[in-house]
Order: sequence, then C-alpha cells, then structure tokens
Amino acid sequence: MEDNKKILYSGMQATNTLTIGNYFGALKNWVTLNEEYECFFGVMDLHSLTVRQNPTEFRQNARKLYALYVAAGLDPKKNCVYYQSHVPAHTQLAWLLDCFTYMGELNRMTQFKDKSAKHADNINAGLFTYPVLMAADILLYQTDVVPVGKDQMQHLEITRDIAERFNNIYGDVFKIPEAYIGKSGAKIMSLADPTKKMSKSDENVNATVFLTDDSDTIIRKFKKAVTDSEACVKYDPKGKPGISNLMDVYSCVTGKTSAEIESEFDGKGYGDFKLAVGEAVASELAPVQAEYNRLLKDKEYINGCIKENDEKAAYFANKTLRKAMKKVGLTEMIR
Ligand code: TRP
Repeated sequence: MEDNKKILYSGMQATNTLTIGNYFGALKNWVTLNEEYECFFGVMDLHSLTVRQNPTEFRQNARKLYALYVAAGLDPKKNCVYYQSHVPAHTQLAWLLDCFTYMGELNRMTQFKDKSAKHADNINAGLFTYPVLMAADILLYQTDVVPVGKDQMQHLEITRDIAERFNNIYGDVFKIPEAYIGKSGAKIMSLADPTKKMSKSDENVNATVFLTDDSDTIIRKFKKAVTDSEACVKYDPKGKPGISNLMDVYSCVTGKTSAEIESEFDGKGYGDFKLAVGEAVASELAPVQAEYNRLLKDKEYINGCIKENDEKAAYFANKTLRKAMKKVGLTEMIR
C-alpha cells in the first residue's frame, strides 16, 4: 500500500442484477478512483441477509456482482475487490460498535423505517443494526472517503458519530470518514415514471434497464420511455423530467453537456433521440457484458482475485480490529 494515498471504501449489496442507475451512478465512476486513492470495494453479502435470500441464487448473485465489478473496469490488481463475509473482522467490529450505538439513533434511520414498512413480516435485529455493520465496514480500513449516494448519507453520518464517540473515550482508534465529493454519477430515474429513482424491483418491466439486458431489450425499453408531448429535447428536470433523465443518461455515456445534446437534437423528434440514447447505452454496455460473461467462465482467475484480495482486506481490517479490542480491555489472545 502506498503511504501517501488516501483510503477510499465502498460497496454494493450482493443482491439482484445491477441497473444502469447503479452503473452510471456509482460503478462507472469507481474505476478510475484507484489513481488517486487506495481503493477497497466490497461485495456486501452480509448486509443482504437482512432480507431473506434463496441460498443458491444468493451465492450466484454475489459471484455475479464480483464479476460485474471487474468487468466494469475495477481491476482487482489495483483495487481490493473482496467479499465482506470473508473477512470476519467486519462482524467482530460490528459487535463492539453495537455497544457504542444507541437504540434511539438507529430508530431514526430512514432506511430502517422504509425497510420495516416494506418487510413488515421480517423486521429482524439485523435490519435494525444494519448501519452499525456498515460503520464497521468503513472504519476497519481507516477510510478517508466513502462515495455514497444520497440514500446512504445518513449511514455515513452515524458512522462518523459512532467513531467519534469511540475515539473520545479511547483515543484515536478510527479515522473519521468523509463523503467522497468528486465527480459523481448522475441519479438515473425510472423510464416509466421519471419522478422516481430507477429501482431494480420495479413492477413495470419497462421502468428499469439492467446492466445485463441485451441490446434489443435496452433499445426497446428506451423507445418506450415516458416523456412529454412537447417534442423538443431541452433540459428541464422539473418541467420535462422524462427527457431530462434521458439526457442525463446520454450525457453519462457520451460525456456531452446538456447544451451540446440540445443542439445535437435540435429539430429532431423524440423517436430519434430515444433511439440514440438506447443505442448509445447498448454499445457502451456490450463490451462490459462480454467481459462479464467471459469472467463468469474463468473461474480460476476470479477465484485467485478473490483469495488474494480477501487476504489483503483481512490484513488491514485485523489491524484496526485488534487495536479496538485492546482499547476496550478485551484480553489479547496468547500466540
Ligand atoms: N448500504 C450500502 C447500500 O445499500 C452498501 C454498503 C454496505 C456500503 N457497507 C458499505 C456502502 C460501506 C459504502 C460503504 O448501498
């Protein structure tokens, strides 16, 4: 590890296939971060267990997420891409931190409230302490910055609160992490209702484009995207949310500004524009998908990457864990 590089940590839950929202909003922006930061990216499989999983599908989904990370360009030789559940320090530190987190704090988490409303039949303790495990993920690596979406900001704040509380008692054990503010991706909205965030669990099949959709499906979904009746490609997120969302997507692929996109489609109809967006997305994703399919078959390579990075992650995580355990007064193991 280069001493002068700051540490960056992030990850995604190991459930379902990713959407282009996850791709343009997060993953695509992660691939160049290792130039500036020492990067850790976890397959957050432990967090996924807060919702009941089919074991076989779950195991496959975790593997698919790992392959997608790599296929999207997270080079596992330059980034520590690993499985959260392979590094026991995460759950060990989470227990310690549980004892420094108040019920009232966890009760205020909006994600907990949302998820308990959604899964009223399974409001388990893991769902409640979810943010503490996330705090452990981040704090174990002495993380400087965490790229997270708006929806995870509250979890980052509680992470900072827990870390400060612990440090106030025991000295500087944890680095206090900040949100990563840099070029971050666009928030991609549903193609069926552009006032809602694109979601992997939308009931409308045309609302969501998955990273693994084939070209025809991608183009068809964009053709069906809900827009307005003005027939004018103009950026106006409030007045024209559908068109503005498509422009955001197009901008993510081409790097063009909204002004450039407006002039490119000046005088053209929505049909032309939607087709152009669909084709642009399909051709950006084609090589990622090809690499993803290749990687899923190259078991040996992926296994090697996982093993190497699990060990690297464990090395750093255990350093922090040992320090925290010692500080609270747990007896060190005799070696
Ligand atoms: N909770 C995050 C999400 O659902 C995933 C996550 C778990 C995470 N641990 C993390 C993200 C640590 C960043 C850092 O998106």
